[in-house]
Amino acid sequence: MERLQKFIASSGYTSRRKAEELIKNGKVIVNGEIVTELGTKVNGKEEIIINGELLKKEEKEYYLLNKPREVISAVSDDKNRKTVVDLINTDKRIFPIGRLDYDTTGVLLLTNDGEFANIMMHPNDKIDKVYIAKVRGIIKGDAINKLKNGVIIDGKKCEKCRVKLRKTNIANNTSTVEIVIHEGRNHQVKKMFEAVGFEVLKLKRERVGIFTLDKIPSGSYRKLTPKEISIIYSIKK
Ligand code: URA
Repeated sequence: MERLQKFIASSGYTSRRKAEELIKNGKVIVNGEIVTELGTKVNGKEEIIINGELLKKEEKEYYLLNKPREVISAVSDDKNRKTVVDLINTDKRIFPIGRLDYDTTGVLLLTNDGEFANIMMHPNDKIDKVYIAKVRGIIKGDAINKLKNGVIIDGKKCEKCRVKLRKTNIANNTSTVEIVIHEGRNHQVKKMFEAVGFEVLKLKRERVGIFTLDKIPSGSYRKLTPKEISIIYSIKK
């Protein structure tokens, strides 16, 4: 269920503020009844008429982007930096599902389907988030075990997770580590490594659930298939 004004705005009809005005002014009819209450909830199946016109639902779109560095995971930026939405050719009001840092690369999903986004973002054992971190220093078993058991970041213990050393480079004094988490806390991976004394030099998200980068070049994207979308919806059941 969603607030009526939010639902109208996400259909692309108008902004949320204008939708509120329309509701307050008695211009919105839901299933045959004029609604003037702003808190009214809808499930999207109602017949909604605004100013005598049937509200068409915005077609849902779903994208898998290989996010490059130096792009922000937001719909807009007050400093006018490039956003992930700028990389996608659409007239729909899509938004990124979760965030990758400005300097993090890899799998990022975008959509205008709030319900789909909620399923993806809810911490869930069925949706792995697989990161490849290049860290400064040679990481050993003790640090890896601490990460696996859940380190404390921002005063709260992380869940247990899978951690695998992929390679070490003695000459460059770096290690490459695969880490699989199910949560999505702010700067989580960088903070987890910091908690065991390692600085992340590079971070890439290689997979989120069933979504991998395949052969998508950096900065490019593809649409999700109907099958992929229904797999995600089936997680909710
Ligand atoms: N963890 C981080 O620290 N940064 C990201 O971008 C994603 C996960």
